[in-house]
This record gives sequence, C-alpha cells and structure tokens, in this order.
Amino acid sequence: MRKKIIAGNWKMNKTFLTSRELLLEVIHGLSNDVLDKTEVVVCPPFTSLALASELIKDKKIGLGAQNIHQKDDGAYTGEISAPMIKSLNCQYVILGHSERRQYFGEPNHLINAKVKNALKNEIKPILCVGETLEEREKNLHLKIVDEQVTLGLKDLSVENMKNVIVAYEPVWAIGTGKTASPEQANDMHVAIREAVENLFGKETADNTRILYGGSMNDKNASELLAKQDIDGGLIGGASLKADSFIKIINSAAK
Ligand code: 13P
Repeated sequence: MRKKIIAGNWKMNKTFLTSRELLLEVIHGLSNDVLDKTEVVVCPPFTSLALASELIKDKKIGLGAQNIHQKDDGAYTGEISAPMIKSLNCQYVILGHSERRQYFGEPNHLINAKVKNALKNEIKPILCVGETLEEREKNLHLKIVDEQVTLGLKDLSVENMKNVIVAYEPVWAIGTGKTASPEQANDMHVAIREAVENLFGKETADNTRILYGGSMNDKNASELLAKQDIDGGLIGGASLKADSFIKIINSAAK
C-alpha cells in the first residue's frame, strides 16, 4: 500500500509574517488521525524554512524546500545547498519543477545531479515531470515524460528509489485552472510507473509514489486521488489557502 502524500508548493509566495499565519492555520486545522493516514509536506520559500521548521517541530508534518544547488558548498552566490536545508530539518526537496525548467533553463542532466545530491544528503527528492500543451498537441507527451523520468533518475539505485517521489505536473494544467481529467492523469501515472519499472524493476515501480500536480483543489481532489495510480498531490495555488489545503488533505485521508 502506498501512503498518500499531499505536498504544498508555496512557490514565491508568503513573507515571514504571512507564512506564519498560513502555517498556524494549517496546523490547527489538521487532526492527528488525518496526519496518521496521510503524509503532509509543506514547501515554503527558503526565507520561511527556519520558521516553518520551528512551528511544525512536534507535528507530523514534513518540511520541503523548492530547489537546491547540485553542490554542497562553494562560490555560487545566491544559491542554497542540500546541507543548508538539511540543517533546517528539511526532509524533502522539489526538483525539476516545470517553472525551473522553463524560466531558469534547468535541463534533465542538471536535475539529475540535484536529485543525486539530495539523496546523498538524505533528503527525499520530489522529481517533477510533465509536458507542455504544445508537446501534448503534437502527441509527444509520453515520449517527453519518459525522457524526463529516465534522465532525471539516471544512475540511481533501487535503494535510492525508496526515497524518491515523482510528481506528474502537466505544464498546461499549472496555475491555469485546467486540470487533467482523472483518466488523463492516471494514464500518465501508469506510463511513469512503467518507465520506473523499466529502470528499476516491478517492485520498485509498485512502491514508488507518483503525485499529481496542476490546478488540484478542494473540488477536484477526491476524484483525482481515487485513481489507482495517483498517490497524492503537489498543490500550488490551493496550498496558499489553509481551508482548501486542509480539505484536500482530508479527502486524501478518506
Ligand atoms: P497549481 O496548483 O497552482 O496549478 O500549481 C501546481 C504546481 O505547480 C505545484 O508544484
């Protein structure tokens, strides 16, 4: 049985003060019963990680960063490394998000280096993959996503894969209000699981959690999460509203 994960990607939103407000609301709105059934992760911006770490100290809520550099330290002005986020108790890091691929030019081989560095530092990478609208219209979505999975997970071991989470986020569904239908999403999750199986075998593929992301909200979450191969959600916009995020988590716990 794959335990569901609901992760909130706050992206470049929330100051120190408003992070505190949001996180306190989320903490107070979640019961222990729900937190036992579902893994919950919050990924605030770097500037709020220390604060978040303190606020969730005694709670069953995980903490993730939204990016890391591929090296542990050095002369890389403005960058943040895995040991730095580890020192703030981050257990997860989002890598290969389409916004980083698109706006910061991150190619698959760089994302692979970051994935390896996260694992080396005992941080669980959430590897994001997904096609653009143009790629889907040209019927290239399966090929593109297979490539992102294969290159993103290159040279990893079966042992490493116990700590890897994949997120399927179709670029055309992110922040647009257009969700992939539960069938469309599930089909892609099956394809991703097959790609993982080709690389690491069936047992690893069966145990790998694959999250869906892209306009998931409290209205459509239940239907998406009911699908066999959808093991949770990576939530953007709806994770910025405590009530919506809590409702999504509650529906994952059912
Ligand atoms: P939205 O939920 O705002 O569409 O964002 C999804 C996402 O990119 C999460 O990483």
